[in-house]
Amino acid sequence: MNQLRINSAGERSLLLMGGTMDDIRGLLPQKGLFIITDTNVSRLWGHLFPPGEVLVIEAGEKSKTLETAGDLCRKMLLAGADRSSFILGFGGGVVCDVAGLTASLFMRGVRHAFVSTSLLSQVDASIGGKTGVNLGDYKNIIGTFRHPEFVLCDYSMLSTLPETEFRSGLGEVFKHAAIRDRNLFFDLAAGSESLATRDPGAMGDIILRAVKIKAAIVRRDPLEHGVRKVLNFGHTFGHVLETQYSLPHGIAVAQGMILAAELSVWKGEMQHSELRILKSALEKAGLLPELLLPSNIVPRIARDKKGESGSVNFVLLRSVGRAVIRRLSLTEIQGFVNFFIDRENLSQ
Ligand SMILES: NC(=O)c1ccc[n+]([C@@H]2O[C@H](COP(=O)([O-])OP(=O)(O)OC[C@H]3O[C@@H](n4cnc5c(N)ncnc54)[C@H](O)[C@@H]3O)[C@@H](O)[C@H]2O)c1
Repeated sequence: MNQLRINSAGERSLLLMGGTMDDIRGLLPQKGLFIITDTNVSRLWGHLFPPGEVLVIEAGEKSKTLETAGDLCRKMLLAGADRSSFILGFGGGVVCDVAGLTASLFMRGVRHAFVSTSLLSQVDASIGGKTGVNLGDYKNIIGTFRHPEFVLCDYSMLSTLPETEFRSGLGEVFKHAAIRDRNLFFDLAAGSESLATRDPGAMGDIILRAVKIKAAIVRRDPLEHGVRKVLNFGHTFGHVLETQYSLPHGIAVAQGMILAAELSVWKGEMQHSELRILKSALEKAGLLPELLLPSNIVPRIARDKKGESGSVNFVLLRSVGRAVIRRLSLTEIQGFVNFFIDRENLSQ
């Protein structure tokens, strides 16, 4: 097992990479434990839950609402929870986002931690202290920053992950590499076969390297005032595609990365040859089925949380492994969208 630490803004978070449930027994309270999980994870991994009150939410993005968090708070209160209670979110990114928010809100905040069970949550959603729920079609509009005391990433739990969800997680792994680590990107591209078979050795190495990238960025900018924004590469287009076409998060991000990379070339920030490298690796990893780009995407982006006075912070690439943040006007982005739809002959 590898241990990483994120100490930021007065909070400490311990990441137990490649650990097992035995490693967290001593970190949990003797009483007052509430386990928040979803229907799939409780069915597949419920036998590993430590003693505590289990609260199960419906699996899937549709559970990421304020109503779910309110309902969990109500159930905790009825079950006798108080300010000394401890929430253990046990699941993928949706469970982590909802459990983290519930821990922030219940009685103005109780202790919490995660057992992270999907590839996407192990490399991204459980790390870094962002919690959140959606507001209608708009993602993560309501949320907080609050670090879990610890995150357990037991790689053996990935064995039961459905194929699409596994690929979705790979999308975020490729994203971490694309913004910061060219070597990791090329290793991922070359190791597609061993990743596809979920070889535990190969997976452990890749997950650890990806998490190190995110942890280093979060340590520098815990509240996303600056450099942390690069973690949103692929998300500005991706969030809209995710809700409009009900795509798994990481698949939508992969599509968003290609569009952001196309925009980077269109803006003259990146060479076309770099775009080809990105595209071919994502294609090989099964992350680029059919390219989608609705013509009305720009107004949706404007209403997304990153929109401010007619322009947005956009994460572009200078090359694979090097992201930059640029302020782009919505008019300019619309110009790119029109150009791209026209060039690709996308039917609307
Ligand atoms: N807070 C953050 O920093 C952050 C970062 C990235 C993504 N996110 C959020 O994370 C969410 C996506 O995460 P996700 O892909 O884990 O979604 P998810 O939690 O919905 O999990 C995907 C599916 O896999 C199932 N699952 C989870 N672990 C499993 C396992 N071990 N075996 C079998 N099935 C399992 C779940 O029940 C679900 O059906 C999105 O809502 C996204 O916005 C948050």
